[in-house]
Amino acid sequence: MSDVVVRTETDLPDAEATRALGAALAGVLRAGDLVILTGDLGAGKTTLTQGLGAALGVRGHVASPTFIVAREHPPLPRDDGSRGPALVHVDAYRLGGLDELDVLDLDTSLDESVTVVEWGRGLAEALTDDRLEIDLERPRGAAGGALDGAATADDEADPGAGTRHAVLRGVGQRWAGVDLAALTRS
Ligand SMILES: Nc1ncnc2c1ncn2[C@@H]1O[C@H](COP(=O)(O)OP(=O)(O)O)[C@@H](O)[C@H]1O
Ligand SMILES: [Mg+2]
Repeated sequence: MSDVVVRTETDLPDAEATRALGAALAGVLRAGDLVILTGDLGAGKTTLTQGLGAALGVRGHVASPTFIVAREHPPLPRDDGSRGPALVHVDAYRLGGLDELDVLDLDTSLDESVTVVEWGRGLAEALTDDRLEIDLERPRGAAGGALDGAATADDEADPGAGTRHAVLRGVGQRWAGVDLAALTRS
């Protein structure tokens, strides 16, 4: 059993901020890393992964893996010809267990990828000793700051709008000494 070695939290006022956190993660994540995203439907798990994919420079559009449980995004060559890690984006919602990942027949091995698992809590831990857990929460009753629950104009335009609260936890020796808080200082 590995322990949480680093922890930080931050508010994400809008989807752009969530994407920016994903992009910042590209600076610390490397091949072999596992990220477990937890949060309700619409919390921003895919939005964060989109920011990560764009900053890693991988091929393909990062979307909710609806019909496929895992999507592979190979790295695009950088200006100097080098390539970073691939992104493997998994929706564990319909997976019985992450050992089922083995039977998914991925072309990319997890060793050469950054693997992001949505709904992975309780499933993905068996994959590696080390992982980065990110929880995204929508503070209840905080939408538009309307204390009486009345919908604001913003709510009507986009019922999903609003601040998310993110908690990041690095578990295992991989994360010892990694300055996660730096990711949330923009
Ligand atoms: N602060 C925020 N962070 C992330 N997404 C937000 C935020 N505010 C509004 N949104 C919107 O909420 C939706 C989140 O959807 P998505 O990322 O697919 O969630 P999930 O993958 O967790 O189900 C998007 O439409 C996004 O534009
Ligand atoms: Mg999603």
